[in-house]
Amino acid sequence: MNSPKGKIEPLDQIPSGIPGLDTILRGGFLRAGITIIQGVPGAGKTILGNQLCYNHVANGGKAIYVTLLAESHARMMLHMSQLSFFNADLVPERLYLISAFRVLEESGLKGLQDLLRREIQKHGATVVVLDGLVAAEESATSAREFKKFIHELQTQASLTDCTIFLLTGAGSRPVAPEHTMVDGILELKSENVGRRTERVLVAHKMRGVDVLRGHHAMRITAGGMEVFPRIEAVIGDPDTPPAHVTRALSSGLPVLDRITGGGFPQGSTTLLVGAVGVGKTTLGLQFLSQCTADAPGVMLSFYDGPAALLTKAGNLGLNFADAVAQHAVEIIWQPITEGQLDEICDRFLRIVRLKKAKRVFIDGIGGLSRIAGDQDRLARVLAALNIEFQLRGVTAIYTAESDLSAAIHGKPFDGLSLQGVSSVAHNIVLMRYVELRSELHRMISVLKVRSARIDSGLHLYTMGPKGIEIEDDTAGAARILHALESSGSSARVLDA
Ligand SMILES: Nc1ncnc2c1ncn2[C@@H]1O[C@H](COP(=O)(O)OP(=O)(O)OP(=O)(O)O)[C@@H](O)[C@H]1O
Ligand SMILES: [Mg+2]
Repeated sequence: MNSPKGKIEPLDQIPSGIPGLDTILRGGFLRAGITIIQGVPGAGKTILGNQLCYNHVANGGKAIYVTLLAESHARMMLHMSQLSFFNADLVPERLYLISAFRVLEESGLKGLQDLLRREIQKHGATVVVLDGLVAAEESATSAREFKKFIHELQTQASLTDCTIFLLTGAGSRPVAPEHTMVDGILELKSENVGRRTERVLVAHKMRGVDVLRGHHAMRITAGGMEVFPRIEAVIGDPDTPPAHVTRALSSGLPVLDRITGGGFPQGSTTLLVGAVGVGKTTLGLQFLSQCTADAPGVMLSFYDGPAALLTKAGNLGLNFADAVAQHAVEIIWQPITEGQLDEICDRFLRIVRLKKAKRVFIDGIGGLSRIAGDQDRLARVLAALNIEFQLRGVTAIYTAESDLSAAIHGKPFDGLSLQGVSSVAHNIVLMRYVELRSELHRMISVLKVRSARIDSGLHLYTMGPKGIEIEDDTAGAARILHALESSGSSARVLDA
């Protein structure tokens, strides 16, 4: 409908009140429309249907939950009473439960239709959930009769300004006629990621709404259903271009600041590449130790838990523990054995936004990659995170593990899978081992820094009670690399 100014009126939507789902639906379900919610057994349809009702009535609406299956109300109530959105006080005054199994058996679709009309009017319901549409379909004497039933439901919905949800199984037919008739279709499904099974929600259609397409992660807990919109779809293209970078942030290491041309540009992303144990986490902790209450930081750790990180930082003389105690740094620990990518990103970004963080440290990309399952997805998620960080002027460091033996033998990029990852990093810092006469030396070099003049030489560094200490000049590193070459080692040296 057009307003006098010729602008298109926004659609009237009713929020689901389910975290993340309203983001996907860009506000909520179409008011006075019909939405099909389909899914395999145990996918969470009944929980979603109930959660919609409880949220709706908690906001002052009235709802009717109609069960068409033989499942008794007592049983359903028992299940729902385990979930936090359940509120027995609202039943039956605001939320009215009806079992229509018998009516359907005795008087068919016509009887069900009459019952719905009567009850919607009697209770002034603004939301109706019909759980078990398959039973209604089975009791139809013909496909035509079933279509007519859906059609009449539509009329009923718009006449009474009632929003209707039809809960149904996965559906055997590719295109069921009712699918073309209704306003929206949501599907709840399971997907295998490695050996894990993840719950997924897909919004197939929502008339007049540009829903967030694709597969969104979903979770059922004692709090009910929670949906995590695909992170790259939510962040997407920024409306405002990233602010021009004027300032660089100190890494916490004076020599590194100098060789990066003044520190890490604000809003940039640095990839810290190196073999296991070379000191990537330490450098990141040193970076975060610069955080203050006014310019806080967030760490997303996949390997070390908070206690291990504090011990590590303590041994290296960093005042990281103080920063954590003063809430200048927040640690999110996410073991790689569990978790869904979008859920983790959601949790992480929420804290980054809430704290107005200026520094973030993700340790490391390998953890995100394991959880993402596929590299394409990982690259898209990293690109989305970059946009978010640039817009917020957050300076980020990610670690990426390189192959140990290759690094020792002077081939830093061998065995390093950085597809799609290096392209999102504005800055790349390499930390490597060099083996000379059975001794391991550590060297750091800067490969690139966005819009800065860098010193690309290799610098020796040590790790001790004062953290990482980098030699100011390249002489030490040059000596070792020279000795390595003249010792006849087959090692290649990086042309940095
Ligand atoms: N507290 C909880 N924490 C985590 N998962 C839960 C919890 N309570 C229920 N579930 C999960 O919710 C699912 C059941 O959801 P629900 O009954 O809504 O499914 P449904 O799609 O209606 O299934 P059906 O088709 O059999 O009716 C089960 O997979 C169960 O494991
Ligand atoms: Mg069910």
